[in-house]
Amino acid sequence: MHTYLVTGANRGIGLELCRQLVERGDEVFAACRATSPELEALDVTVFEGVDVGDDDSMNKFSLEVDGMDMDVIINNAGVLYSDNLDSIDMDQVRSQVEINTMGPLRVATLLRENLDSGGKFVIVSSLMGSMSDNGSGGHYGYRLSKAGANAVGVSLARDLAAKEISVGIFHPGMVATAMTGGRGISVEESVKGLLERIGELNLENSGTFLHQNGESLGW
Ligand SMILES: NC(=O)c1ccc[n+]([C@@H]2O[C@H](COP(=O)([O-])OP(=O)(O)OC[C@H]3O[C@@H](n4cnc5c(N)ncnc54)[C@H](OP(=O)(O)O)[C@@H]3O)[C@@H](O)[C@H]2O)c1
Repeated sequence: MHTYLVTGANRGIGLELCRQLVERGDEVFAACRATSPELEALDVTVFEGVDVGDDDSMNKFSLEVDGMDMDVIINNAGVLYSDNLDSIDMDQVRSQVEINTMGPLRVATLLRENLDSGGKFVIVSSLMGSMSDNGSGGHYGYRLSKAGANAVGVSLARDLAAKEISVGIFHPGMVATAMTGGRGISVEESVKGLLERIGELNLENSGTFLHQNGESLGW
């Protein structure tokens, strides 16, 4: 039995992470801005008011969990605003950076002491953050925010290695959640793969970018 922190736990991939972790007997700290009936139905400890894009909220949360040991921190919370060259909204670009890029960075700076040697720090990133995979353009804010999240993950992998904490940067696949309008593979399939990748995460493969199906992804 291990202890997991999941951000963005109230719905989508985060909710399913909580469900599968509880089902297999792990302890879950479920962090969210606002809880949901589906999350309340699970045997997890819910922390509300946890906005990964907000310094004050995260400072407050870090005090709430001060001294609580965690084995795995999963940075799942994220937001996507679709844009193209004609429709870019700079406030939405900034918001995606605050949440998708600086969110995991805030969590790392504030909560890394909750992880001990052997701990794991996971970023649910996106293939949309890959330069080499970008064959279709657009999605400026989301792409740059997830590319930034990947950069955060690689630096963390280097910096946390001395403390024997490994860092996983994972693409969940295109998953049928609110974010995709219900298009893609099921959350069950995606999360099964994500948990397999987290299980395999170690100091040797720390800082690599993987699809939940195990495929290695290009930056
Ligand atoms: N679905 C896909 O195909 C796909 C593909 C690649 C990557 N991803 C990534 O997977 C992760 C989960 O996405 P999803 O598909 O489950 O999306 P989703 O159904 O839209 O859920 C997003 C989750 O993030 C939370 N969130 C958003 N902004 C937040 C903030 N500022 N602070 C805390 N929580 C916040 C949401 O909480 P609220 O209810 O409070 O908004 C919700 O729990 C994201 O990082 C996303 O970028 C998804």
